[in-house]
Amino acid sequence: MIELRKINGDNIDEVIALEVGENQKDFIETTNLRSFADAHMMNADGIPATPFAIYADEIVVGFLMYIYDTLDHESFENEVFYGKKSYFIWHMMIDKHYQGQGYGKLAFEKMLMDIETLPNGEAEYVTLFYHTSNVKAKTLYASFGFVETGIIQDSSMLAIKKLDGNITESLVNRISLKEM
Ligand SMILES: CC(C)(COP(=O)(O)OP(=O)(O)OC[C@H]1O[C@@H](n2cnc3c(N)ncnc32)[C@H](O)[C@@H]1OP(=O)(O)O)[C@@H](O)C(=O)NCCC(=O)NCCS
Repeated sequence: MIELRKINGDNIDEVIALEVGENQKDFIETTNLRSFADAHMMNADGIPATPFAIYADEIVVGFLMYIYDTLDHESFENEVFYGKKSYFIWHMMIDKHYQGQGYGKLAFEKMLMDIETLPNGEAEYVTLFYHTSNVKAKTLYASFGFVETGIIQDSSMLAIKKLDGNITESLVNRISLKEM
């Protein structure tokens, strides 16, 4: 079973020890430790940041984090989403020993369901960046309806998804189908 849990004194060492493969290091901008520190700094500055440890059957296998912010970067000025509120996926990784077992997909789905409850406030979009050569991430995010914007920063593509309740709806449908 996959669960997202708060990071605290009980699991911080395990979160820091997680690693991606050598050839994947370019795909993540920062370490888990730095992202966790960023979360604290942003929360102190009034930008809500939510880091989570990803658990698979009580073992810490990954880390993810999202923030709640405004899409006001100057390179977005001519885009329809400019100035709109978004949940932005800041960091997402599964340790190299646990990749390819479906954990990333399940954790990502759980995170989107959490975001759809609008925990930090109203928003129209979920956004993220991925390295243009990160086929795995691109495929994963596209399977959840993220669309490439064509905006590339530091070799990373901005992709966006409208917050429309689809994830929660499809899960509710799956559960009610099982119950029928
Ligand atoms: C990207 C990452 C989070 C995916 O997690 P994972 O647990 O390895 O992936 P999963 O086993 O859950 O697979 C999820 C989906 O990824 C895609 N995928 C997996 N392997 C793939 C491959 N070799 N090629 C293309 N797509 C692939 C598929 O869409 C797959 O879903 P499916 O099995 O239903 O087809 C993980 O591999 C990782 O941490 N990579 C290094 C860091 C990184 O790239 N982070 C993302 C930064 S944007």
